[in-house]
Amino acid sequence: MRVGVLCSGGDSPGMNAAIRGVVLRGVDVHGFEMVGFIDGWRGFHEGDTITLDRPAVRGISPLGGVMLGTSRVPPFEGRTVDEIDLEPFRAQMERFGLDGFALIGGNGTQTVAHLLSQSGINVVGLPKTIDNDLGGTDYTFGFDTAVSIASEAIDRLRTTGESHRRCMVLEVMGRDAGWIALHAGMAGGAQVMLIPEFPESLDQVCEWVRSVHHRGRSSLVVVAEGFVLADDGQAVTHDGFDALGRPRLGGVAEVLAPLIEEHTGIETRATVLGHVQRGGSPTAFDRVLATRTGIAAADAILRGEWDTMAGLRGDRIEMVPLADAVASLKQVPEERYVDARLNFG
Ligand code: F6P
Repeated sequence: MRVGVLCSGGDSPGMNAAIRGVVLRGVDVHGFEMVGFIDGWRGFHEGDTITLDRPAVRGISPLGGVMLGTSRVPPFEGRTVDEIDLEPFRAQMERFGLDGFALIGGNGTQTVAHLLSQSGINVVGLPKTIDNDLGGTDYTFGFDTAVSIASEAIDRLRTTGESHRRCMVLEVMGRDAGWIALHAGMAGGAQVMLIPEFPESLDQVCEWVRSVHHRGRSSLVVVAEGFVLADDGQAVTHDGFDALGRPRLGGVAEVLAPLIEEHTGIETRATVLGHVQRGGSPTAFDRVLATRTGIAAADAILRGEWDTMAGLRGDRIEMVPLADAVASLKQVPEERYVDARLNFG
């Protein structure tokens, strides 16, 4: 069995541990040959590869980033099954003698993985994304690390904010889902958490900030980059688009902070955490989750359980159909938000 390993989308802490997991199990235990593609589908198109064996993955679990590189280069032209010409794709697979792929990625990547599977190409998915917005799994690896970093940022902002009696607004990632904001906010005791799933009005946000101030405290507002003000209805974007044509999000904290200051009279500062959340060494939780995911993926490949993804279900790693994993985004459910919102302000 010859298996291609490839990462696609934004990087996520734990990807190296996942590669190590799938390679150690695949090569050493099941006797696979494994080839890694550099920078995702770019390496596949251009034949930029490395052999993945035990020495290649030595000591990589604690490392941030991803040793293979990743990109948002698409695997083929076209977005729908009818538009896609898979002949060049199959020719490349033959060139590398591949029986199938282990694809490490988030929503977009696993959607492609399912599309490929439907066309008869063997794929098993490994779920990564700091946003934790992929279905079919309780948690994606990378999320725990991002939450830890964001929580630490909240702790630090809190002490400087309290010293100056300021309102501090922290922007975290989360394009379509507010998991990082909700969990980091909860861990850090933030008084307001604003997430894409549930727009709030500026008046409401200011009321919460004022009530914290009247209690003699400084407020900490965590806002996910995809949050939209109910009065406005538009996410804040930078100029330009990413490689998949999606608007680049970011800057909502810098929009909110002056508005809060203007409406409440409370001095307010904005911090955009940005890619710090994705960088550096993964937490032990992410390393273990990613390693177990890799092991389960290699076992599934051996059994020929294609068109599946290694998801965390409770305490077990289970192979879930890719169709289920990508059926809908995993957003923060209303009850989780309502629970947290009861204590805002
Ligand atoms: O991986 C998803 C994500 O973390 C989103 O929350 C964010 O919008 C995006 O990555 C930013 O990624 P980049 O700047 O690398 O395109």
